[in-house]
Amino acid sequence: SSAADLLVVANRLPVDQVVEADGSTSWRPSPGGLVSALAPVMRRNQGAWIGWPGNAGEEMEPFEEDGLTLVPVALSEEEVAEFYEGFSNDTLWPLYHDLAAKPSFHREWWDSYVRVNQRFADAAAANAAEGATVWVQDYQLQLVPAMLRELRPDLRIGFYLHIPFPPAELFSQLPWRRQILEGLLGADLVGFQLSGAAQNFVRLVRQRVGHKTHRDTVYLPDGRVVRARAFPISIDTEGFEELAASEEVQARAAEIRRDLGNPRTLFLGIDRLDYTKGIHARLRAFSELIADGHLDVEDAVFVQVATPSRERVDQYRQLRDDIDQLVGRVNGDLGRIGRPAISYLHSSFPREEMAALYRAADVMVVTPFRDGMNLVAKEYVACRLDGDGALVLSEFAGAADELRQAYLVNPYDINGMKATMLEASRAQPKEVARRMRAMRKTVSEHDVSHWASTFLTSLAGDPESHTKQT
Ligand code: G6P
Repeated sequence: SSAADLLVVANRLPVDQVVEADGSTSWRPSPGGLVSALAPVMRRNQGAWIGWPGNAGEEMEPFEEDGLTLVPVALSEEEVAEFYEGFSNDTLWPLYHDLAAKPSFHREWWDSYVRVNQRFADAAAANAAEGATVWVQDYQLQLVPAMLRELRPDLRIGFYLHIPFPPAELFSQLPWRRQILEGLLGADLVGFQLSGAAQNFVRLVRQRVGHKTHRDTVYLPDGRVVRARAFPISIDTEGFEELAASEEVQARAAEIRRDLGNPRTLFLGIDRLDYTKGIHARLRAFSELIADGHLDVEDAVFVQVATPSRERVDQYRQLRDDIDQLVGRVNGDLGRIGRPAISYLHSSFPREEMAALYRAADVMVVTPFRDGMNLVAKEYVACRLDGDGALVLSEFAGAADELRQAYLVNPYDINGMKATMLEASRAQPKEVARRMRAMRKTVSEHDVSHWASTFLTSLAGDPESHTKQT
């Protein structure tokens, strides 16, 4: 296959292979923030993307899609269970998200993580041109940078973590903490969402690996240096603005409001169905506002979209049952005919429908207990072309660092959330517009291509780019 000058290595390809009932296969966009951020950047750059097609299966040949070369990496059933559902999503995911669930530590899962990381490194080594830049993504592939450097010392290697990087006290629980730090140190540049995460990493490298460090720089014994910096990720802002401006999306937004009985206040939540997102807590806050009489189902409704995710992992199954139960109980107790309190959708929707929902909403509610960034918050802001709409945002989402004018909440504090959701829904239009204007400026100045170019410039070693990071 032809060698590429820019490669992304991510657990997922930008498209997922789905097997239909009749046995035929088709492709659909992959879920989650990583793919929605990187796909537009890579389409513009004509690079290669190495990743897993999303289900257990056989080796597949590389293929072209929209000017992008996709290189599938196959995982067996056992690897899906041990590497993906196990170590990635039942060990690292909860540990890196402040123990939002209890992580499981299993030695076989770790062995599978090592083997699968090696396979991704081999695929990157085989597809990279001499001196190419390889950009490794996220927590599923933290060993790839060192494995790849071993195979191909000629490459520029960057790594970006899309999720939080935990403080030393939590990270140190990992029996394989040193291997993971050493894996990451194979990169020339390790990027994080927030500067606190970069600092956690450098401190751990000093404590646990014993390398010399100074500020954002790690000095390796062989003379190589590794930098750790923050690059807050963003969205394709113009793409969302154009979508939101289209006639179809505007008409659909009006139709959604009509179908809901033209409520005075439409609250909206859109998340992958994940226990880090605080879906249960926010719906509880909303239902208490109705039960208390502060809101009335005749003029307020909560639309919650939950995209199915990691459905074979126990904690996710449990969460699904909990939300089903809560929604059922709330609507049973508080709904009226044609007026459910919560309109709950357990499915994924195309971007057009998301944009219509963002346009239709009066108050967007984003309340994760911990989140690397949260791109849904930024997408909502980008779609508010008229400059109205309130955003209620958890202070534990990375996005809260930039979107200071949101109505910030502590998702553990139900009464606090109730008060703030009410405040956001009753605020003067002038006040709502003042906040939204400031947030729109942030999201339009810092879009995803700015994120990617800042990272890649820094990786290439342009000294100018170093002054911009925080
Ligand atoms: C988050 C992670 C991504 C992941 C996505 C979807 O955004 O940072 O790496 O791809 O969730 O999760 P999934 O397990 O379906 O890939």
